[in-house]
Amino acid sequence: MRKPMMAGNWKMNKTVPEALSLTRQIYELVGDCTGVEQVLCPPFVCLHAVKALTADMPFSLGAQNCHWQESGAYTGEISPTMLRGLSDYVLIGHSERRQYFGETDETVNKKMRAALAHELIPIVCVGESLEQNERGETRAVISEQVWAALDRLSAKQVQSLVIAYEPIWAIGTGRAATAEMAGEICGLVRAILREMHGDPVGDRIRILYGGSAKPSNIREIMGQPEIDGALIGGAAIVAGSYAEMVKITAEVYGV
Ligand code: PGA
Repeated sequence: MRKPMMAGNWKMNKTVPEALSLTRQIYELVGDCTGVEQVLCPPFVCLHAVKALTADMPFSLGAQNCHWQESGAYTGEISPTMLRGLSDYVLIGHSERRQYFGETDETVNKKMRAALAHELIPIVCVGESLEQNERGETRAVISEQVWAALDRLSAKQVQSLVIAYEPIWAIGTGRAATAEMAGEICGLVRAILREMHGDPVGDRIRILYGGSAKPSNIREIMGQPEIDGALIGGAAIVAGSYAEMVKITAEVYGV
């Protein structure tokens, strides 16, 4: 069985003291829910402090982005070398990065390869826009993004990945995809992985849904056989709602 994952993308929220306080609150509420992998993705500047605080807590850490170069004249950027040992995961290709910071399928692929070379596990995000969804292009868009993101990666590299399907129109809007629709697209992603690298690799990879996931819809989302977790934005920066989602997931999985 794939271990369910609840990944909290804190985005550009929380100062260092606030991040520490949120982490402590989450630990008090669901520190014993070890059947669910809880991934906290605070802003870069909080990573070190949260890492120190969580040394004996059952949390994984994720960065929200990284550059593809190891070092150099890239003002304002953070390299995978800097994140090595500090974070377990790194979000790559989040739609906000694609939309506001010019990330493309090509840079996403470069980042994937750089992250993997530095022992960071990418949580790579794919998702269609509202217009693409309304034009019935969802499957084609997702397929293109997955193939491009995973281009030239070996089966060994791919089997460690996490993929998040996040329809752009559902992010931060309160309007999540229906569980069936999300399950269908996560199933498409898995079919692509099987086609690329065979059934054992496809069966092993965790596929998350993201986009207005919250306590009221997480049970239905996690009830979908192809969905292994959620990438949560707004509901992850409130300890109570994140913890509730972790608990519901543990219940659904019986872990
Ligand atoms: P949301 O964000 O849960 O606030 O919709 C999800 C994400 O952007 O990862």
